[in-house]
Amino acid sequence: MIFRQLFDQVSGTYSYVLASRQGGEAMIIDPVLEKVDRYLQLMEELDLKLVKAVDTHLHADHITGLGALRDRTQCITVMGEQSQVDVVSMRLGDGDRLTIEGMKLDVIYTPGHTDDSYSFVMGDRVFTGDTLLIRGTGRTDFQNGDARAQYESIFGRLLKLPDETLVYPAHDYKGDTVSTIAEERAFNPRLQVKSVDEYVALMNNLGLSNPKMMDVAVPANMRQGLAQEAVAARGWALSAADAMRLLAARSIALVDLRERTERERHGVIPGSLHAPYPNLRENLADGGLLHELAAASERPLVFYCAFGERSAMAVQAAQDAGLTSARHIEGGMDAWKKAAA
Ligand SMILES: [Fe+2]
Repeated sequence: MIFRQLFDQVSGTYSYVLASRQGGEAMIIDPVLEKVDRYLQLMEELDLKLVKAVDTHLHADHITGLGALRDRTQCITVMGEQSQVDVVSMRLGDGDRLTIEGMKLDVIYTPGHTDDSYSFVMGDRVFTGDTLLIRGTGRTDFQNGDARAQYESIFGRLLKLPDETLVYPAHDYKGDTVSTIAEERAFNPRLQVKSVDEYVALMNNLGLSNPKMMDVAVPANMRQGLAQEAVAARGWALSAADAMRLLAARSIALVDLRERTERERHGVIPGSLHAPYPNLRENLADGGLLHELAAASERPLVFYCAFGERSAMAVQAAQDAGLTSARHIEGGMDAWKKAAA
């Protein structure tokens, strides 16, 4: 396994690069915008292909690297389903699996610091975002924070993990890099409480000032979607309603770019071909599934995904590969369901 803990000294943020092998797919958790060049250099040095960029929650103290990484690598951006961020490619819920080649992370919803906070368990370690820090916990006094929910997330979920589980948080300001569940249970001063009410009282009396970057970071982090506007400006976007009419007239071939778990959870458009986004390049290449389909069919390919981000990047890639009739459904399955309602 390749595992790298990277640090942004300005915001005290830890970002994590994970991959199962050199030459394989990689993901990054909680990337910081200013460090994007560094991450991409590391990917190149380790011969990794970035396929997913994940935020544990909407950050208030730094600008996320998600949008920049998506624009530069066409990776999938991932956040929780509660997130208010305008467009991420893929949204996760409690109990989902976050996967790349050779790796599976269990997704745990751990609200409290924010209402869109998630933790990810991978074998012997857990990425806790700002829910559980080393000898601390993420503040709960803004961004729909909730000390009571955080108590449940920590005591009800994270502290139930095996004692020796390694704790990798999104931040540290003292220089600590890793802890364990047992260590935090025993020595984290915030966790030495006898009841949820005692925890709530503790968290509500911290008297912290707002993060320096908050007024800049929160609005910037909520607007990550750019790909769809550019694609629409080139005339490559169909509204869900248009796509419905064209599909009923059998004049388009729909291609679903989502992962199997998303199809199971959110349903599929009947008659669509499943060709997951991570395999797009080989599918569009000579001899690839989509290349052959486009050659054999009179009908233009129309891509769709969850919210229209992956499909916007796919339509660009298809155009680059010479499939000039390729289009996508703006807003994805989400827009399709709204149009069908
Ligand atoms: Fe945070």
